[in-house]
Amino acid sequence: MKTIIHPDELRSAVREIRSQKKIIGFVPTMGALHEGHLSLVRNARRETDIVIVSIFVNPTQFGPHEDYRIYPRTLEEDTVLLNREFTDLAFVPRVEDIYPQGYTTTVQPGPAGDTFEGKIRPGHFAGVLSVVVKLFNLVQPDLAVFGQKDAQQLFLIRRMTEDLDFPIRIVESETVREDDGLALSSRNRYLKVEERKKAVVLYRALCAGKRVIESGHRSLSDTQNAMLEAIAKVPEFSPDYATAVSDDTFTEEDPIAPPARLIIAGRLGSVRLIDNMKV
Ligand code: PAF
Repeated sequence: MKTIIHPDELRSAVREIRSQKKIIGFVPTMGALHEGHLSLVRNARRETDIVIVSIFVNPTQFGPHEDYRIYPRTLEEDTVLLNREFTDLAFVPRVEDIYPQGYTTTVQPGPAGDTFEGKIRPGHFAGVLSVVVKLFNLVQPDLAVFGQKDAQQLFLIRRMTEDLDFPIRIVESETVREDDGLALSSRNRYLKVEERKKAVVLYRALCAGKRVIESGHRSLSDTQNAMLEAIAKVPEFSPDYATAVSDDTFTEEDPIAPPARLIIAGRLGSVRLIDNMKV
């Protein structure tokens, strides 16, 4: 695997790949890679000739009191894992190359970026979309793979790709879970042993909501209540939201109508966790 740091070098590598008419698959990440990321890489590999993975802890998507400074940076381990997956190229830019002095332009997500994660983390999605646009322009992929775990991010990236006419197919990749149901996340490594055991509450709440819907009920409040009841069993978890949204609009609908998704997020101690489940 080749590692490229400078955007100019990436541009010439991409030019070379494109001249050979090869199909490029792209997996943007912030590193601290786990099995969930590797499944994205495998999905990209399945449909393309060349797989490019970016590793960039993007400062603009973190709020002032969030974990940007301490976010795990594990480049050596990440490189080993990516090599094992036969990744062709890792793009690992420096902050000053992505955001040179004088940088001011951003991509705004529109109203669906102000709800749920966007409400709790103001400016988060503008940061995500702005960096994804830059990465799309640099990598020029044919397809890009994103995890379902960040469902609102995926929704907004699809919207943006369509709205801004990027000729890129967005592929979604299923959430990878631990045996007890906890969704894999780079932030799980912040959990203390006791918190890790309790973190299964998110998955349990999603399953409780799903059971309500599968039993034929479509009421939004019944579904939310079932999720809250499951959450109440772990008082250490303070939810930011636990509800159902339409997969088409990422807004709540009552009664719940397919295609829909249960979404949940909150804090366990100092660790913020999110998850979702299609219903
Ligand atoms: O999902 C992530 O890891 C990040 O939000 C992304 C898409 C790489 C943008 O920084």
